[in-house]
Amino acid sequence: MLQVETRIAADPADLEALAPIQAWAFGTNTARALARLNNAAAGTVRVACVGGVVLGGLIEIPMGQWFGGQSVPMLGIAGVAIAAEARAQGLALALLRDALRSARARGLWLSTLYPATYSLYRKAGYELAGSHCRVTLQLRQLPRGVRPLNIESLGPAGDAAAEALYRELSRQRPGYLDRGDYVWDRVRNPQLEAARGVAAVGAQGIEGYVYARVSTPPNRAMEVVLSDFVSAGPRAFQTLLAFLADHSTTAERVIWYGGLSDARLLGLPERVAQVAVEDYWMLRLVDVKRALLARAYPEADVAIELSVEDAFLPENTGQYPLRVRAGVAHYEAYAGSLRARLSVGALAALYSGFMSPRELQLAGQLDADASAQRALALLFAASPAPALADYF
Ligand SMILES: CC(C)(COP(=O)(O)OP(=O)(O)OC[C@H]1O[C@@H](n2cnc3c(N)ncnc32)[C@H](O)[C@@H]1OP(=O)(O)O)[C@@H](O)C(=O)NCCC(=O)NCCS
Repeated sequence: MLQVETRIAADPADLEALAPIQAWAFGTNTARALARLNNAAAGTVRVACVGGVVLGGLIEIPMGQWFGGQSVPMLGIAGVAIAAEARAQGLALALLRDALRSARARGLWLSTLYPATYSLYRKAGYELAGSHCRVTLQLRQLPRGVRPLNIESLGPAGDAAAEALYRELSRQRPGYLDRGDYVWDRVRNPQLEAARGVAAVGAQGIEGYVYARVSTPPNRAMEVVLSDFVSAGPRAFQTLLAFLADHSTTAERVIWYGGLSDARLLGLPERVAQVAVEDYWMLRLVDVKRALLARAYPEADVAIELSVEDAFLPENTGQYPLRVRAGVAHYEAYAGSLRARLSVGALAALYSGFMSPRELQLAGQLDADASAQRALALLFAASPAPALADYF
């Protein structure tokens, strides 16, 4: 067994050692990989070393994720890469274990990532927990619409208003990010290039906005790609749609990302959009007790004791007597409690609302009688279905 040490990258030499490993892993060049690593705020790149030599790393992104209308502190993980010659020796798992333990010590109760492989992350206690959908709108099939609101460029002064609007709307979408600086930077500078911010503005201020860039992929027509698209109501949506439709002489389509269903679908006049699941993201409860207490629940009165098994972080294995009253969870033993047994991974799929108790039971991943299943269904149901608009 290799003696693997991991640490937060302390000086530029660590990043310079990791950059070619990331470049090889993700098929890019070293300069671009280094730019991405340098972009991660200081202290958020973790490297794995054997005998003092850097052989892999990942990016740690602290932020929040909305569940039940509450922002739960979460560690996003990105760019997991191990040197090709050092793979299959447990380095990735060592990195993940240390990243998760340090997250727990810093008060981050969840962790979320986009998996290139399920088996690695399942071993680390993650499970599928929501979708990331690509919406493609055929611009040339859109009528040139009306603009009930004004279109204005979002200058730096508008950034704070855009952030406030995003926060207000995203909190009601299970799984959406309570973004931190890292993700806002990706929204405003996708592909390491500035996006154009455009807002729909009414008498009371910004009612919606997009961050957009234009791109012409090889052998494809020009497209407008939105790294963010927020509208607080039909007027903002119509206005922004009209703004996008005015690109139809040169651009064929507009692309944005989000969940399978949201209010925008009802604002489209015709069958002009295709929605496809681009990816599923995975979630892990880093600290089971704190994660269960930190989210909000529906207004129900439920007492259920969860028996959770966590082979990767055994400190989580144990009994969790959960009592929910008026949407707030308490940690409290109760004689008449219902009971359920599941792994920490199955709990992640349940927690986000991605899997119902019945589906988990069909997958052989939940041991609970019918009453316990009904109670869990009540507590963890998510609407709309859990989704992420952002990729990180
Ligand atoms: C994926 C990657 C990070 C794994 O790193 P690693 O150090 O070799 O992984 P580990 O040795 O810790 O593997 C632990 C477990 O993960 C799973 N796993 C690792 N590599 C895998 C692969 N290529 N395919 C499927 N499962 C894999 C296995 O279950 C493995 O356990 P096992 O060895 O008992 O079978 C590495 O192959 C890599 O850098 N790939 C290119 C970049 C990439 O895909 N990154 C992931 C981005 S989300």
